[in-house]
Formats: sequence, structure tokens, C-alpha cells
Amino acid sequence: MEKVNLKNLKLKAEEEIKKISSLKELDDLYRFYLGRKGELNKIFDSLKILPLIQRKKIAADANDFKNNLNKLFKEYKDLIKKEVEKTVFKMERIDVSRPGREVKIGHWHPIIKIQREIEGIFESLGFEVVFGPEIETEYYNFTALNVGPDHPARDMQSSFWIDEKKGLLLRTQTSPLQIRYMEKNFPPFRMIAPGRVFRYEATDATHDIQFYQAEGLMIDKDISVANFKSVIHDFFRRLFHPKIEIRLVPSYFPFVEPGFEIYIRDKNGKWLEVMGAGMVHSDVLKRVGINSGEWQGFAFGLGPDRLAMIKYGINDIRLFHSSDLRFLHQF
Ligand code: DAH
Repeated sequence: MEKVNLKNLKLKAEEEIKKISSLKELDDLYRFYLGRKGELNKIFDSLKILPLIQRKKIAADANDFKNNLNKLFKEYKDLIKKEVEKTVFKMERIDVSRPGREVKIGHWHPIIKIQREIEGIFESLGFEVVFGPEIETEYYNFTALNVGPDHPARDMQSSFWIDEKKGLLLRTQTSPLQIRYMEKNFPPFRMIAPGRVFRYEATDATHDIQFYQAEGLMIDKDISVANFKSVIHDFFRRLFHPKIEIRLVPSYFPFVEPGFEIYIRDKNGKWLEVMGAGMVHSDVLKRVGINSGEWQGFAFGLGPDRLAMIKYGINDIRLFHSSDLRFLHQF
């Protein structure tokens, strides 16, 4: 009877082991047959009550069975291990020939791009790049630039006042950097001061409430409009192309005398106004303690937004601050 039992058990074990697909299942099965409380031990236990001859015979069969089963388990264990390895290899396979994933590191905003270009050109002409505060005092933004409290020119630049009593406002122009620089430096000097300015105005395709300027200043001996024209023409040649034409048109800015607007001619032959400039007013020089009999110079204010629009073919100034990625990705 035990013999039949053993035979059945053997068949059953062989059937079951074939269906195993994981090491865990194999382990469970192993414990079921060959574990301490497993089927085989049950058989050994039951032998005690049998007569010796029978006992020997069955014990021998049971041992055979045990050895065979052990062998089978070991074979299957190796087999399953290999299968597992194969799938792991397949899943974790690295194709070293595959092209890498592109790392997006971002890039400069078109305004910063043009600003750096402007800085670079003027630096190569011996200009020092300086920066100033975006919140200015009335004195630096207006008064020191010959725009007294009742001067009509204040209305040309509608202002964002931070605190009107204390005379604090968002600077409407970078021109206050002329004053700040001249207070701290002795001539001769050349400087360029780029930065953001703010005006309380209606916006449209060519006007925004914030935009950029780059203020320039050169003070030296015997400086004339001819020096200015040469410097600024050189600048535009390098920013656009060697054949660019420029034109100076008389204009009024309170802190220069004479004052000009500068135009460049575009591809279609149209004249575009791109900046204001002039010879620094003697009153401004006097205010910062520079002797205008000995020193003269020119100042100018460029509009980087406008220049970027011309250079990159942008038709709406508001795109610069729109955060529209379709726009930004083009630079
Ligand atoms: N600050 C002037 C503006 O915002 C531009 C300007 C004109 C700057 C003439 C200058 C200058 O330095 O000489 O309209």
C-alpha cells in the first residue's frame, strides 16, 4: 500500500514541478514534499509501526524517491534561475548604441541676448558696463537731469510712483545712471548702463509699461558731435551690418544741448527712430562738479527692445513678456 502511495506521490510531484514558474513556488513545493513536516517525512514516520523487512524495503524506496526528487528540484531551480536571469537581462538591457536624450538647458531671452551684444560692442570700444537701481529718486530720475518739479518734460514720461512724498518712483529712463556715474568718477570716462525702465502708459505693439534702455556716456577733452556720430555708427555697423545708414535729426531732451534722435535705415529703405542722444548739458556737468570748460561729452539712450525687434523681425513688443514658449523657443 505504501508502495502505491509512493508511486502516486512521485507522479504527483513530477506533474506539479513542471507547472512551477517561480522560485517561490518551487520553494513551497519543496517544503510540501521534503520539508521537516513534508510528505516524505510522514512516510518515514509511518514506518515505525511496520515489520523490519517491510520497513527496510519501503525506506529504501522512500530514500530513492527523496534523492530523485532532490535532483529534480535542483534541476528546476537552475532552470528557473536561468529563466529569471534571461527576463531580467531583457528588461534591463542597455542599448549603448542608442542616441542620448537631449538635455534642455535653456537659453538667453532675446532681450538679454541683444543686451549682451550691445555690452560687448561698447566694451570693445572701451566703455565700462554699469548698473543702477530700478527704484529711483525723483532727483536722479528728473531733477538732476534738468527736469525740475514743474518741467513739462515730466509729462512726457508718465511715472509709476512708489512714494510720491518721499520722491520714489520706478525709473522712467536709464539716464539717472549718467548722474550716478559722474558723481563717483573723474573724467575722462566712457560707460554704458543697460537696464529695465517703466512707464505708466497704454500698451500696444510698440509700447509696453516696462522696456529696456541702455544709457551711454562719454566725457573727455575736445569731444564733439563728430565723435558721437562715429562711435554710434560703428556700433550700428557691428550690430546690424557694415553698410547700415544712420541719420541724426535735431530733437529736444532737457539734459543735452544740442539733442538728437537717431534713425537707421531698414531693408525697405524706411527710416526707424532707434535712440535719443546729445551733448551733455553744461548745467548737468556743473551739478556733478565737472568743469564744462575743460570737459565735454555725449550721452545717448538706446532701446534694446526696439533693436531686438528690428534685428530678429519681431512685430509686437508685448511678446517679450508673454512667456509664450512658441516665441521664446525661436531664439
Ligand atoms: N532718456 C531718454 C528717454 O528715455 C533717452 C535719451 C535721450 C537718453 C537723449 C540720452 C540722451 O542719454 O542724450 O527718452
